[in-house]
Amino acid sequence: MADSTSGKLLVDPSCYGESGPPHELFRTLRAESPVHWCEMEKVESFYAITRHQDIRTISSHPELFINEPGVNPRVKKSPIENQTAFRVVIVTDGPEHRDLRKVAMPHLTPRSLATAEASMRASAKLLVDELAKDGGEGETDLAMGLAVRHPLRVLCKTLGVPEDQEETIRELSNRLFGADDSDLGGGTSPEAFKQLGQEFIKLFMPIIEDRRANPTNDLASVIANGTIRGEALGPIETLGYFLIIFSAGHDTTKNSLAGGFRALIENPDEFKKVQNDLSLSADCVEEIVRWTTPVNYMKRTAAQDIDVNGQKIREGEAAMMFYASANRDESVFEDPYTFNVERKPNRHLGFGHGEHFCMGAHFARRSQIAIIEELARRVEHWEIIDEPEWISSSFVVGLKHLPVRYRIRQGD
Ligand code: HEM
Repeated sequence: MADSTSGKLLVDPSCYGESGPPHELFRTLRAESPVHWCEMEKVESFYAITRHQDIRTISSHPELFINEPGVNPRVKKSPIENQTAFRVVIVTDGPEHRDLRKVAMPHLTPRSLATAEASMRASAKLLVDELAKDGGEGETDLAMGLAVRHPLRVLCKTLGVPEDQEETIRELSNRLFGADDSDLGGGTSPEAFKQLGQEFIKLFMPIIEDRRANPTNDLASVIANGTIRGEALGPIETLGYFLIIFSAGHDTTKNSLAGGFRALIENPDEFKKVQNDLSLSADCVEEIVRWTTPVNYMKRTAAQDIDVNGQKIREGEAAMMFYASANRDESVFEDPYTFNVERKPNRHLGFGHGEHFCMGAHFARRSQIAIIEELARRVEHWEIIDEPEWISSSFVVGLKHLPVRYRIRQGD
């Protein structure tokens, strides 16, 4: 039975650290109270929106449900409450949002990703070669290894981060997204976040300066030389853009892959299907995104009093759209708790919906397809050898550890 204390289970990072997303509670909420008021102690109270259709409706009305002042619940009495250092695309609305999207979007369309695709394939091959190097057999933590390193490599390539700084950026990203996880994060204090911001600036600033002086055809150049209505982006907007692309792109893809590897290992018949027919890899990746739903929720704030599925939400109140719940909605998906690489149609909301639909969806799909195909061609055997562990995070959700034993064929 859901009650007003359910909110803790929905957003408390430590609950996710113990057992992952609360799918049982999501199921109850969808059935009994799809627009559910959650009274919160430490963060602002909110309505939990758990049905697929209601999330689509809210996302289709960005004039009624806005992204400002942010997409996470605000922390009560926090000194950093409501502070938005960077005007980034995800926390803006209306014309400002559309202008910001236009800066990078042309570089993230399927057509313009052809060059990036070569580096995605190269990264996949190199990393699987590394696993195969000692006679093709070994043990590894796929969540800490392959799932981290592949998206890191492809994002660093497109954002112009030199290979010798990949480790630095990986560590910064862990501190940003694992802030609540004592194994990963650097803490949630204002000082910790300020320090983190400065370290990101140190890393991206030289790249921005270089691409302004010597533009190439990568995403780094597009952002560094970006304009809005004919005016160059200011330094803060430019930095914010690098940060949002990196932060929105890395941990999401990493968690999708780690959970996807687990699903493929635990469902060997599904993996076999992809091995026998690589043209299934794109559908397999869609199913992985549905299954794992790395972005668990996005918050919207009501711009006026509005009714959602019979429940009045008042102006200024928060609506948390739980994509993880929408993606198991039994009214939309047949056998939602089954991992099915041939699922068609697959109308998952893992990349969101509407005006804020994930800008990197094509990028994320292609980079995951590259690694899934490389593994499908080469894995002879893989098994999980210890209990997988979850990250203590309720926003970008996924596995921290996935220890496996494997046998992998040498590459061509
Ligand atoms: C599996 C990987 C990924 C998942 C599951 C994911 C999911 C999402 C979701 C749910 C949203 C919010 C959509 C909404 O509010 O309607 C979003 C927004 C965004 N994503 Fe992704 N994402 C992924 C990878 C990426 C990558 C690789 C990039 C960059 C190359 C990226 C860049 C962005 C940006 C910039 C936004 C903000 C868009 C806006 O506000 O208009 N994402 N993503």
